[in-house]
Amino acid sequence: MTVHIGAAKGDIAETVLMPGDPLRAKWAAERFLENPVCVNEVRGMLGFTGMWRGNRVTIHGSGMGMPSLSIYANELLRDYGAKTLIRIGSCGAMQTSVKLRDVILAMTASSLSTPSKGTFRELNFAPCADYGLLQAAYTAAAGKGSGIHVGGIYSSDVFYDERPDLNEQMVRHGVLAVEMEAAELYNLAARYGARALAVLTVSDHLLTEEALPSEDRQSSFSDMVEIALEAAFA
Ligand code: ADE
Repeated sequence: MTVHIGAAKGDIAETVLMPGDPLRAKWAAERFLENPVCVNEVRGMLGFTGMWRGNRVTIHGSGMGMPSLSIYANELLRDYGAKTLIRIGSCGAMQTSVKLRDVILAMTASSLSTPSKGTFRELNFAPCADYGLLQAAYTAAAGKGSGIHVGGIYSSDVFYDERPDLNEQMVRHGVLAVEMEAAELYNLAARYGARALAVLTVSDHLLTEEALPSEDRQSSFSDMVEIALEAAFA
C-alpha cells in the first residue's frame, strides 16, 4: 500500500493504462480485460488489474492535471515497479490539419512548468515518448481508420487559459494539441527508466471551436484503449 494506492505490492501489473477519469478506468477494465479486479479505490481513484490476450494489465485513473498524475505515476513506478505507462485521454486540437476524433501520438510535450520543475531547476528537460511504444501505437492506430498525427503537444496547467498569445505561439510552432498530463508522465518515466506514451483523441478544437458530443467520446475512448493495449504488447 502507498499513500494514494490501496493495492498490495503484486496487485499492479508492469503495464498500466492511465485515463484521467477513474470511471473510464472501470469502464475500460470491464470492457477489455478478462477477470478485472478492483485494486484501488482510495479517494475514488479507481484501478483494476486483469488480463488482455494473456498479458497482465492494470488500468488506473490519473486524475486531471500534472500534480494529480504525478502522485499516481510516482507511486506506480517507484513502489509498484510499473515499467510501461500509457496515458489515454483527450486533447484540444491546435492545427487546422488536425480534426475532431483524430488520434495524436505525443512524441514530446512542451509546458510552462511541470511538477518536476523543482528537480530540473534551470534545465529545460525535453520530455519524450518511448520510441518503440510510439511506433507500435502508430501501427495499431493505422488499422483503426482514424486520422493519426505524431508530433509535439502542449501540457497545460490550466483548462481555462487566459493567455491567447501563448496558444498563438504553440500554433505557430506546429504544436498539434493541448492536454494537461503528458509532460510530467514522460519526465517520470525517464526518471524511473520506464516506457511512456500518451495516446490522445481530439475532443475539441481551439481554432474552429468545435467539440465532440459525449457519445462520440466513448467510441474514441474505446479505440484508444485498443491502440494502447496493442502497442504495449506488440
Ligand atoms: N483536454 C481536452 N481538451 C482540452 C483543452 N482544450 N485544453 C486542455 N486540456 C484538454
